[in-house]
Amino acid sequence: MLEQFPSHVTIYEVGPRDGLQNEARPIATSDKIAMIDALTATGLERIEITSFVNPKWIPQLADATEVARGIHRKDGVVYSCLVPNKKGLEKALDAGMKEVAVFLSASETHNKKNVNKTIAETLTAFEEVIDPAREAGVRVRAYVSTVYGCPYEGKVDPAKVVALVGELRKRGVYQISLGDTIGVATPLQVKSVLEQVIAVAPLAELAVHFHDTRGTALANVLVAVGMGIATVDSAVGGLGGCPYAPGASGNLATEDVVYMLEGMGIETGVDLDALVACAAKLSAVVGHEMPSKYTKAALGARSKSATRITAA
Ligand code: HMG
Ligand code: MG
Repeated sequence: MLEQFPSHVTIYEVGPRDGLQNEARPIATSDKIAMIDALTATGLERIEITSFVNPKWIPQLADATEVARGIHRKDGVVYSCLVPNKKGLEKALDAGMKEVAVFLSASETHNKKNVNKTIAETLTAFEEVIDPAREAGVRVRAYVSTVYGCPYEGKVDPAKVVALVGELRKRGVYQISLGDTIGVATPLQVKSVLEQVIAVAPLAELAVHFHDTRGTALANVLVAVGMGIATVDSAVGGLGGCPYAPGASGNLATEDVVYMLEGMGIETGVDLDALVACAAKLSAVVGHEMPSKYTKAALGARSKSATRITAA
């Protein structure tokens, strides 16, 4: 089962978007820009910086244009953002974005709660996003949410996921990220769903996106990467959650997945110390501890050795 490990895994960092969208305390635009610039300096290749959605739905990301215009872009790093519709695309293009991501759910109820449309209406709305974006030279990624379970409907039939992957590929997205929105997936379920998806889509067009609500995210990544999937979404510090998915908590922490992959000899190009420094700063910005286990261990070890030095 775990035989196809790639030599390199691309981390798709979602902290500034999925991480911050659920934070209760308003975060200053300058802090978001500093966060993204610090993430750029860690060696990450891909960073999702914000969402061009209705600010009434996601007030924390109402400054999407200012953030997109304020960051310092590094050559070779791809900066992306969520867009739900034509209006979002127009705003993203106006703010200089070169990649966007559309999103929908495999379960009707979550889709309706999240974007106020049926799944079919959402696919229709994508017609005003995907082709115009590509005509403007902008790549389009897609998310399928609630792949492994829905907060409103419970179990989700993998056949619905497979069908949506087919619909999205037909419409011209270059990659599809399969979301465990509420962190319910377990490793053999991941294996089974991915086998069905891989039968209809090339590995290079797939990514995995796990929330770590029940502590299974790393185990799930191990299965996915072992099946040859080479793009993994994660959020610095383990921040995150979907405001329209009750019970959704933090994303898989970037530090934890980078530590695991690098330890297995799989290259990510990400500097772990720089990530921990970024997470430590963010803790002060959001006003709570970071869930990342690696960061807790690293900061704990540092404070113990500082105590020893002071005591000596
Ligand atoms: P709606 O209310 O049905 O939209 O919302 P509407 O078309 O009827 O328009 C209503 C108002 O919104 C109008 O303004 C529009 O101009 C405005 P008004 O005339 O009332 O002044 N509007 C917009 N404003 C700014 N940007 C836009 C935009 N579109 C309309 N793009 C809509 C529909 C999709 C916009 C809304 O439901 C929405 O914004 N939803 C976003 C929800 C969201 O961001 N959820 C979290 C992200 S998904 C996630 O976290 C899961 C993921 O991480 C993967 C996983 O974990 O599984 C990706
Ligand atoms: Mg998410």
